[in-house]
Amino acid sequence: MKALVLSGGAGTRLRPITHTSAKQLVPVANKAVLFYGLESIAAAGITEVGMVVGDTAAEIEEAVGDGSRFGLRVTYLPQERPLGLAHAVLIARDFLGDDDFVMYLGDNFIVGGITGLVDEFRRNRPDAQILLTRVADPRSFGVAELDPSGRVIGLEEKPEHPKSDLALVGVYLFTPLVHEAVRAVKPSWRGELEITHALQHLIDIRADVRCTLVEGYWKDTGNVGDMLEVNRTVLESMERRIDGEVDDASETVGRVVVEAGARIANSRIVGPAVIGTGSVVRDSYVGPFTSVAENCRITDSELEFSIVLRDSSIRGVGRIESSLIGRHVEVTPATGVPSAHRLVLGDHSRVQIHS
Ligand code: G1P
Repeated sequence: MKALVLSGGAGTRLRPITHTSAKQLVPVANKAVLFYGLESIAAAGITEVGMVVGDTAAEIEEAVGDGSRFGLRVTYLPQERPLGLAHAVLIARDFLGDDDFVMYLGDNFIVGGITGLVDEFRRNRPDAQILLTRVADPRSFGVAELDPSGRVIGLEEKPEHPKSDLALVGVYLFTPLVHEAVRAVKPSWRGELEITHALQHLIDIRADVRCTLVEGYWKDTGNVGDMLEVNRTVLESMERRIDGEVDDASETVGRVVVEAGARIANSRIVGPAVIGTGSVVRDSYVGPFTSVAENCRITDSELEFSIVLRDSSIRGVGRIESSLIGRHVEVTPATGVPSAHRLVLGDHSRVQIHS
């Protein structure tokens, strides 16, 4: 069995955090979303990975390399334009050969991995298997319609009037029958060859398309609350590890990760929390469910249930909660009052806050 990992896309989303880089590299607990996907593919016993890349190919290749550090062999498959998920399967035809494969969208996050699903697929070997999850607003997903016995009877891509709240998760298991289906579909209203339509084709020809309901699914839709939640979930499963420097005036409580090259001075860190390489936390408090990425400076501040991306600095601003702070952001004091702030800051932002 092989894996086809999709890491293309224009990388120009309208939300602050991903507009300057590949959406697959958005970090969760200081690690790119894509890396969790690659690790779960390796854990499922798959080693051959075709990585479909687009405009952000250089960034993805720099991050993933030949895949050996994940225990994978990665072959890059350039897609000249984002022409759809079914198009990605079309261009991967030679790489995939006549093997079964898992297609994994690199910006999707499945808590708990895919080993169970891959094992189930290997055992039963239906023509295709899809994953579904309940979402509040299905209109930005593929949506499935099931009959009373739970069989998939129809699939629609981003419908205006969804027939259910069951969204297609970006992990699909296929036998080579899918190659016939991707050749049969025509471009959709958005000009893409949709995998949803290829799956509908399989249903129409009465192929065996099964579905599994999953919980613990996340995809970056620009919702900061969701991002903080997935960060929290991942931090909760981490083991305590202090590889960096913690001075005698500091205290680290519970599941705290201080990466090698990070420094904690005269501060209190209460886990689960992670402090990335090269970051310095001084005269500060970092509370539960917080990720501070690499090369940040947290000085004379309090931070809780928040994400700070790399190369940012927070100094003398009192308490920050439930916030997402991008890369190269600087938060410094102005004059004045309140004691709690809620921030959503894009890459390279500069803010002045009354402290
Ligand atoms: C794609 C699929 C959609 C699926 C989603 C999951 O959407 O077309 O059916 O629900 O991935 O991430 P896209 O990311 O292309 O908008």
